[in-house]
Amino acid sequence: MEPIQVGLFGIGTVGNGTFQVLARNQEEIRRRAGRGIEITMVADLDVERAKALVGDRAKVVSDAREIIANPDIDIVVELIGGYGIARALVMEAIAAGKHVVTANKALLAVHGGEIFAAARDKGVMVAFEAAVAGGIPIIKALREGLTANRIEWIAGIINGTTNFILSEMRDKGLDFAEALQDAQRLGYAEADPTFDIEGVDAAHKATLMSAIAFGIPVQFDKAHVEGITGLQAVDIRYAEQLGYRIKLLGITRRRAAGIELRVHPTLVPAKRLIANVEGAMNAVMVQADAVGTTLYYGKGAGSEPTASAVIADLVDITRLQTADPSSRVPHLAFQPDELHATAVLPISEVITAFYLRLQVADEKGVLANITRILADCDISIDAVLQRESAEGECQTDLIILTHETAEGSMRGALASMQALPTVLAPIVSIRKEELA
Ligand code: NDP
Ligand code: HSE
Repeated sequence: MEPIQVGLFGIGTVGNGTFQVLARNQEEIRRRAGRGIEITMVADLDVERAKALVGDRAKVVSDAREIIANPDIDIVVELIGGYGIARALVMEAIAAGKHVVTANKALLAVHGGEIFAAARDKGVMVAFEAAVAGGIPIIKALREGLTANRIEWIAGIINGTTNFILSEMRDKGLDFAEALQDAQRLGYAEADPTFDIEGVDAAHKATLMSAIAFGIPVQFDKAHVEGITGLQAVDIRYAEQLGYRIKLLGITRRRAAGIELRVHPTLVPAKRLIANVEGAMNAVMVQADAVGTTLYYGKGAGSEPTASAVIADLVDITRLQTADPSSRVPHLAFQPDELHATAVLPISEVITAFYLRLQVADEKGVLANITRILADCDISIDAVLQRESAEGECQTDLIILTHETAEGSMRGALASMQALPTVLAPIVSIRKEELA
């Protein structure tokens, strides 16, 4: 059988990795796919650079629409990124009857509904393993491997840049700004790292996992997103003293009232495996009713790790290309007419435990007033730590760990505590998850 022909949009970091790994492992991949897979056309704005990378193994063009117009190309791989030209090209490729592979989590988290609907109408596949946690096959695990289960929650370290920064802050006692500089120097963070450090990239990925886990539409606009820019080294140290690590987690959880979908810094018990995922590595924990807890770990970014996921999608499409579209694995795991409109809960209804740090006057009655406010708001205390004051010092840090509470109750309590004259600085609150 003739090899299946693939067109590549964008030969940057992931595009080049995909081209090189596919060429290097082509024989193994052919034996698995049952047919050769060849990238025969590449589109990139920098044609000279692209030609230098692919040599005479593929035709290089500057306009991706030349690939869409080629009837010999069955699959296009979109590795440009963003919602602009990438969205237009993906929609045009689908309209032209091409299958699509993409690593573009931003595009799918925001426009996934429209893209999957268009693909369904045309009977083509849109595959996106590389869009979540890079080289870790988490989409395959959620969509197929765990298909027997009722998934209860997912919690993941799904942004390598922020995990690297948090590791540096903890290991070396650096402040956020210094650790970010290190991440940029080592090439983990983009020159403009806003999407990483503000939690947006992780929220894109959590949104996709939430849709697949619970059979709901992709709804990035409903996600609660907090990054790590406000995190202080002192809280990482206190968390450590209490037996916790702070990680930026993407969390989605099924509750009776709806679905939680959130990204924020989180205290996690230091003894959990996920708390020990360091540097730019990713890990995703899935809690499901039949299998229990499973953990997926690996490189969440980088040229060849991400290419590994892109090529896995190419193999899947090659195998399933001739299958009746209704017999293929649905894009979002559940049959399209079986997606539920279960509400994504507002952050005020999310239930978590909390770490609180209060800078307080070191005088009698202070702790009593604070615990009374928490009790009045129906919030139960789990542990309290007070920093020993230095000689002559008249203020101290009070660290409180609470049991689980609705976020709305905690916000009320925080407002009341902040109003106490003995609370001397803005209260720091960080959510805490036991992930048991
Ligand atoms: P790069 O910026 O390295 O590569 C993008 C490439 O697309 C560049 O070569 C760029 O050319 C080219 N390009 C831009 N516009 C066009 C266009 N109109 N037509 C054709 N080519 C164009 O990005 P990455 O490889 O890092 O990322 C690609 C995608 O993969 C993104 O969606 C990203 O989020 C995702 N991803 C990336 C990971 C990583 O580790 N890098 C991990 C997981 C997902 P030029 O440089 O000349 O502008
Ligand atoms: N910027 C992302 C990260 C790349 O740091 O994890 C992979 O999606």
